[in-house]
Amino acid sequence: MLVAGCLKAPLAVSFDTTEVNRETAIFDDHDELWLFGYGSLIYKAGFEYIERAPATIDGWVRRYWQGSHDHRGTPDAPGRVVTLVEAPGETCLGMAYRVTPSVFGYLDHREKNGYLRFAKTMTFADGSEEKGLVYIATPDNAAWLGEADIEAIAAQVAASKGPSGPNRDYVLDLADALDELEADDPHCLAVAERLRALIGR
Ligand code: SIN
Repeated sequence: MLVAGCLKAPLAVSFDTTEVNRETAIFDDHDELWLFGYGSLIYKAGFEYIERAPATIDGWVRRYWQGSHDHRGTPDAPGRVVTLVEAPGETCLGMAYRVTPSVFGYLDHREKNGYLRFAKTMTFADGSEEKGLVYIATPDNAAWLGEADIEAIAAQVAASKGPSGPNRDYVLDLADALDELEADDPHCLAVAERLRALIGR
């Protein structure tokens, strides 16, 4: 029997993924593991790690297609932050951190606005590979915004702010971090360039 009020949209991932991630418990039984960061986790760790090193993930690209209700926007006026989108043949460069599961509480909370824990293979500069943890917000999550042209993304970023600060700081800090990593990321570069033009920076 269906009970009104208990209905949930099939496959929808809720606004707060903390509980799902805790229950899924991917990597909870490891003593140590590699975490792959591709967005704010590149330039702002905020947790303890043993070491860090640039790494890549094959078959995924970074896109400003995820809404931010809790960090760089609000539920009524979401900002835009990056997630990974499947793209066969493409490679995403980010920063990998060797951590212990003690950081999961912090990370699950920080990434709670639609991001789920996934296990993915990352490749390091020396060619070695490790299966590790990545937080990805998939298109079925409740804060998903999806594709938009660069002009619209930059305008939304310019107008948004949330509890973690202006959305523009996220985009410009990530652009600087990608520059430092020498990452080839035309999408993020284009958003940052258009944003700079809009805000005169
Ligand atoms: C990440 O950085 O790996 C996830 C997205 C974000 O927190 O910006």
